[in-house]
Parts: sequence; structure tokens; C-alpha cells
Amino acid sequence: MGYSKGDMHTAYHEFLSGHPEYDAEAIDTLRTTEYSRLGECGAVYLDYTGAGLYGRSQVESHRELLDRGVFGNPHSHNPSSLAATALVERAREAVLAYFNASPDEYDVVFTSNASGALKLVGEAYPFGPGSVYLLAYDNHNSVNGIREFARRAGANVIYVPVRHPDLRLDADLVDHALDRPARSGRSNLFAYPAQSNFSGVQHPLEWVERAHARGWDVILDAAAYAPTNRLDLSAVRPDYVPVSFYKMFGYPTGIGALIARREALAKLTRPWFAGGTITLASVQDEGWHHLAPGHAGFEDGTVDFLGIPAVTIGLEHVERVGIESVHARVMALTGWLLAEMTSLTHSNGAPMVRVFGPVSTEDRGATIAFYLLDPTGAVYDVRRVERLAGEHGISVRTGCFCNPGDGEVAHQITHDEMASCFVEPHIPVTLEDCQLIISDATGKVPNTIRLSLGIASDFSDVWAFMRFAEWFRNRPVAETR
Ligand SMILES: Cc1ncc(COP(=O)(O)O)c(C=O)c1O
Repeated sequence: MGYSKGDMHTAYHEFLSGHPEYDAEAIDTLRTTEYSRLGECGAVYLDYTGAGLYGRSQVESHRELLDRGVFGNPHSHNPSSLAATALVERAREAVLAYFNASPDEYDVVFTSNASGALKLVGEAYPFGPGSVYLLAYDNHNSVNGIREFARRAGANVIYVPVRHPDLRLDADLVDHALDRPARSGRSNLFAYPAQSNFSGVQHPLEWVERAHARGWDVILDAAAYAPTNRLDLSAVRPDYVPVSFYKMFGYPTGIGALIARREALAKLTRPWFAGGTITLASVQDEGWHHLAPGHAGFEDGTVDFLGIPAVTIGLEHVERVGIESVHARVMALTGWLLAEMTSLTHSNGAPMVRVFGPVSTEDRGATIAFYLLDPTGAVYDVRRVERLAGEHGISVRTGCFCNPGDGEVAHQITHDEMASCFVEPHIPVTLEDCQLIISDATGKVPNTIRLSLGIASDFSDVWAFMRFAEWFRNRPVAETR
């Protein structure tokens, strides 16, 4: 394969002269010192919104730390327990410091991932008849899922749609929905992603304060935003912020956090108690237990006390690399990719790529949803594309990315067409079944490829992807089966 734009060397120099903000020396050093396994494995990693990548030093520092001490279950006062507690509390402070969140205002609850953080809010939020759960269409399913708690409590669930084709929310519609007169005394919750994990769209962070001014509590889902953007919680003050640390710096997996305003945390009523979440319980009266205040009341059982110290190490790693530099680099690469992808054509002039969502770098992140088209405009089977990419060592993701709202709008699936996948509520229909049902009935292809950039992305990655994409030039769909 050869990318028709000439050789990579020339293209890279052109790219560098157009993007002085791309610090080539820094990323070259980082790739050599921390991420050399990418080159050694011949891997072109383009799935950072799926999971970030860890640097070598993170794992080494964590191993050394474990090697140096004896750590026991926290919640006790023996030396090994206290040593573990100290590391967990250090990590909590590091999370607050990283997000510039005042410890007087914010608390950090360690969870297993962003979904776990969202569930803590959903199951404990004081929804009730007359209250509203307002959501953006492009929320991740772990935010959508909170609607089940809301509905069960008799609250209204209201969605604000994203527009076709840019997949942005209409600010007037958001304002209108926030203006909805809420029944006095009811709690109302607004949830939106700082960045869509499907389209990369970044929504205005100012909506947090606009919602607050109208009495709403706000979940700002930062899971897809935090890995390549600075979130400053002294400037934007959402009530609940879920994050997954493996998305930010690859390691450890299985640890996330709910960063919550102390006031907002106190508003939640936990549906149960567990070891670790109470100050006292008795079996002599079924009503007797005292919930621990703050984060302790939300961390069920024993936290991952050996894994959590790796969060501190990961945050230090990101600070060393510099989140602003990461942001500048991935946005420069995204701009290059968007321009190349949207100008790629077959010999008959037909476009080879359809991007879903914004095609410029304005108010978006480094996640691009798209599919590849043949010379007649037919869509290449995305799973076949994923497999072929894999044969070239390229990791991209396909499917709907747990973001049904963006997918349905991107592919213009109507309510009636979607309904065909929910005819028998008790018979589970898989995503693949549903895609087949819809494409058989309508000819639409409700499936997408996603590539996303992150901390270790460099020009060779995006170049490799374009070389791969070009392989499809002038090939009819049938030839690639
Ligand atoms: C925007 C967004 N929110 C929430 C999640 C859920 O994260 P996790 O699967 O780590 O719980 C994801 C995961 O992709 C995401 O992208």
C-alpha cells in the first residue's frame, strides 16, 4: 500500500510547518521512553476513547511501590492497614489536585469505573413524581441507564436531541428544556457529556452554571473528555463528575471515581449499606445503622487499595507529559485526519469517507466516527474493515460505542424503524440483530467505525490509517468481502 499524498517524510514536514503547536520532539521522546512497545509490536493504536495506554514508568513505579511496603486491608489501625490507608488518601488528594477541585467543595469516591460512579448517583438521587431527569441524546448508556431509576421513582425523563448532521445539541433547545418550570421542592437532574464518545463533539461547559442558576443538579460526564482535555473544577462546578482512570492513562484498569460536590453528595440517599460505608450498625433493630459521611458512605466494601496508588502515579505521569501538550498534539492530528479523510475520493470523484459529526476541529475532541464508502456510495462492512485494519496492526473500534443517541441520529434511524427492534420486550435483540433488521428493511447501515487519539498518538499513527483507508480506493464492496 502507498498513500498517494507522497511519502510520509514529506507529508510530516508539511504537517509540522502547519502545526507549530505540535511538539514533535516531546512526542518522539515519549514514544521512545514510555511507549516503545507500540513500535516493537508494530501496533497502530487508534482506540484511546476505548482505553488509554499506560507508560512504562507507571507500571515500574507501581511495582516498586508494592515491592517497598507491606499493605493490608484499610479500615484498621495496624501498620500495614495504615500504610494502605495513607496511599488511598494520597490518591484522593491527587485526584482533587489534578482537577483543581477544592477539598472544601469536592469529594472523591473511588469506584470501579465511570459506570460505577454514575450508578451511585442514579440509585441514590432523590427522584420523585414531578422531578425531571434531563439528558442529552449523545450520552453514554451508563448515563442513559439512570433513567431506569428516575422512571421507577415516577420522575419525567426528557431527552434533548442532537442535530443531524453535526451531532451537536441546539443551545436554544437546551435552554428551553432547562427553563421548564420544575415543580417546587423537586430535585431535577441534567446529564450531558463534556465530550461525546461517539462523535467527539464537545458541549459548552457553561451549561453547568446555566443549569445551576435554574435549580438543576448536573452530571457532567467527563469519561471521554478528561483523557485529552484539562477539566478545571474551580472554573466549572458540576455536581457529579464520573471518570474512568484507564481511559486517562491506561493503568490501572478497574478504578474510576465519582468526583462530587460535597453538598451534592449529601443530597444522595444510599439504598443500602455495606462494610465500610457505615460508622455503626446493629442487628438488634433492623433500622439501626449510621451511614459514614462523605466518600466513605459510598465506597462499598474494601476499595482496590493496591490499585488506587497507581492512580496517583498515573496522574503524575499525565502532569509530566502535560495534558495541554497532549491536547495540542491530538487536535493537530485530528485536524490533519479530518482534512485528509474528507478529501479522499475514488477515481470517479465519489467520496471514500463519510464522517459523522463535525468535520472541523472547532468544539470537538480527537474522536472521529465514520464509515468507508465504495465508488457507488455503498458502505463497506464495518466489521470487515475492522478485521482488515487489524491485519495491518491498526486498532479501530466498530459498533455503536454504547451511544445509541448519536448512532440513531447519525444514521437517521426513525422511531418506527427503531421500534422494530423492541417488538417483543422480553426477547433480547442484540445490536447486530437490530442492525440487520433495520438494514434489511431500509437499506440504511446503522453501524460505525471510530478512531480516537490520545496521549501517545503521533503522525505515524494517522499516516498509517490513511494508507490503510486508501487501499479501498476504486474497490467495489463485493471485492472486499
Ligand atoms: C462518555 C463516556 N461515559 C461513560 C463511559 C463508561 O465508562 P466505563 O465503561 O469505564 O464505565 C464511557 C466509556 O466509554 C464513556 O465514553
